[in-house]
Amino acid sequence: MKTRTPVIVNILIILTILFIMYYMFVQNNSFFTSPYFWGTVAISIILAMIHNAIGDLIENHKFKALNEEEKAAYLLEKKKPFLKALWDSAFKKQTAKEEKDMLIDHGFDGIMELDNQLPKWWLGLFYFGVIYCIIYVVSYSFTNFADPIKEYDEEYKTQLAAIDEYMKTAPQATLENAVYSSDMVTEGEEIFKTNCVSCHMDGGKGGIGPNLTDNAWINQPESTLFKSVFHVVYNGSPNNPTMVAFGQNGQLTGNDIQKVASYIYHINQEQQPITPAQGGAAPQGTEANWEK
Ligand code: HEC
Repeated sequence: MKTRTPVIVNILIILTILFIMYYMFVQNNSFFTSPYFWGTVAISIILAMIHNAIGDLIENHKFKALNEEEKAAYLLEKKKPFLKALWDSAFKKQTAKEEKDMLIDHGFDGIMELDNQLPKWWLGLFYFGVIYCIIYVVSYSFTNFADPIKEYDEEYKTQLAAIDEYMKTAPQATLENAVYSSDMVTEGEEIFKTNCVSCHMDGGKGGIGPNLTDNAWINQPESTLFKSVFHVVYNGSPNNPTMVAFGQNGQLTGNDIQKVASYIYHINQEQQPITPAQGGAAPQGTEANWEK
């Protein structure tokens, strides 16, 4: 008569499997607070106890049928702590008689083959592997578990958030270190469309604010076009408060101003001016002679 696995061990195994299963299907720890999780845990424990109680009944019944000697041997075996019994059984060597019983009628060169029982630790790993495999395949097929596309999306989102976070604290461009970059023109155009187009009109052709595509400038605070634009957008116009100080009042960051100034540099230096004949505003200010 074999000794049985204690019910607490069965419960621990069931809980481990349940945990893995819930984790794979839900993919975060939120199931810990879910009534479904605790419900399944409770039902599993109750089932394990019922299974154990039935086992007890069968065991008692079989025990009665044993003779005194067998009874004593069984009681001795049962006293062994579970882990020790497991350990012993893993390294158990069979006696010569037992070996003879499981000898297979099949050998070669005098080497005979035994029909040995598989070690318990091996069987345990094997069953665990099979169960894990089934749970994995099902959750992989029917949930987002281990879905590379979803994982990629999430990773991408955290990366974007990290960039945003960095940008908030990153040092901003200043009048001293800002430089024109053709890479910023597209982003600069977006900033222009949101903040400036109401006064400077499409493509900077001029309206309430002057034409930004020609070579006539009212404000020429710096010696180069790019720095001059950065200066005016950051500090506003000293003559006309309609052109507000976007940098000083915090409406735009230094980096944003660097971008929008790059866009204005681009439409002024790398494109043809929009003349009054083409719908642009008439030149205001004086001809500029920018340093390159
Ligand atoms: C509310 C209207 C208004 C808005 C919005 C506005 N501007 Fe202006 N802007 C003006 C006016 C008016 C002037 C002329 C200032 C002066 O007479 O000194 C001007 C002047 C300028 C100048 C200098 C032009 C020159 O000839 O001296 C630049 C460069 C400029 N704006 C860029 C921008 C940018 C970039 C934005 C958006 C971030 C913007 N402006 C938003 C009204 C505006």
